[in-house]
Amino acid sequence: MRAPLTDLPLVLDRVSLAVGATEILDRLSVTIAAGPPTLVVGPNGSGKTSLLRICMGLARPTSGTISWGGRLDAPPLRRAFVFQRPVMLRRSVAANLDYALAHAGVIRRQRPARIAELLARVGLDGLEGRPARRLSGGEQQRLALARALAREPEILLLDEPTASLDPAATRAVEDIVLAAARSGIKVVMASHDLGQVRRLGGDVVFLVRGALRERSGAIDFLDHPASEDAARFVRGDLVI
Ligand SMILES: Nc1ncnc2c1ncn2[C@@H]1O[C@H](COP(=O)(O)OP(=O)(O)OP(=O)(O)O)[C@@H](O)[C@H]1O
Ligand SMILES: [Mg+2]
Repeated sequence: MRAPLTDLPLVLDRVSLAVGATEILDRLSVTIAAGPPTLVVGPNGSGKTSLLRICMGLARPTSGTISWGGRLDAPPLRRAFVFQRPVMLRRSVAANLDYALAHAGVIRRQRPARIAELLARVGLDGLEGRPARRLSGGEQQRLALARALAREPEILLLDEPTASLDPAATRAVEDIVLAAARSGIKVVMASHDLGQVRRLGGDVVFLVRGALRERSGAIDFLDHPASEDAARFVRGDLVI
C-alpha cells in the first residue's frame, strides 16, 4: 500500500528571496516537522511574512529549494494560510464559510453541518447570519481561522493573527490555535509577541534581516537565547 501523501516535513534549503535589488530572505535553511506549533519570530521587516508565503507556496524562492514531504512541487491542498489582515466576502458569516467549503470540494448537502461545526470550533455560534464585515476584529480573525480550518489542512500558516487584538480576543484566537495543534494540525505562526511564544510553546525560528539567527525550543529561546540578537530581542531591546 502506498503511504498517504504528507506535506511534512517542510524543508527549506538555502532559500533566498529577492525582489529587484532587495534581499528579503538570505540563504535560509530550516526544517519544520510535525509537532507543536513553530513560531516564526523576529522584528518588523525581518522576513516572517515572506517565509510563511514561501511555506504556503505563494512565493517561490529566488534561489534554493523548499520541499513538502520530500516533494519539490506540492499543490497547497493540505495547507491553509491566514493573512495578517484577512478580507471577508461582503456576505454573511455562514456564506463566507459556505464559499470556503465549496472551494474545498465539500458537496452542498454536507455544508450546513460543517458550517455549524466550524462555527462551534471558533466560538462564533449564533453569528452565522451576521454580515462578516460587521464582525469585530477578533471575531473576523476567528472567522478567518474557521475558513482556513474548512480546508482540513495538515499545515496551518498564520501571519500574526493577534497583532491588533486585545488580550481577551487574543486568548480566544490562541485557544483555537492550540486546539488545532492538539488535533494534529501543524501550526506555523509568525509573531513578535514573546508572551505568545511562551504560551503556544513548540519551537522557534528567529529571523533577523532575512537570515536565520536562532533555531531552538520556545522555552530555550526565551530563557537561554544563544545569540546576542536573540538575547536583546528577548530583553525587549530594539533589534534593528
Ligand atoms: N514585494 C516586495 N517588494 C519589495 N520589498 C518587499 C516585498 N515584500 C516584502 N518586502 C520587504 O522585505 C522585508 C521583509 O518583509 P516581511 O513582510 O516578510 O517582514 P515581516 O517580518 O513579516 O515584517 P512585519 O513584522 O512588519 O510584518 C521588508 O523590508 C519588506 O519591506
Ligand atoms: Mg509580516
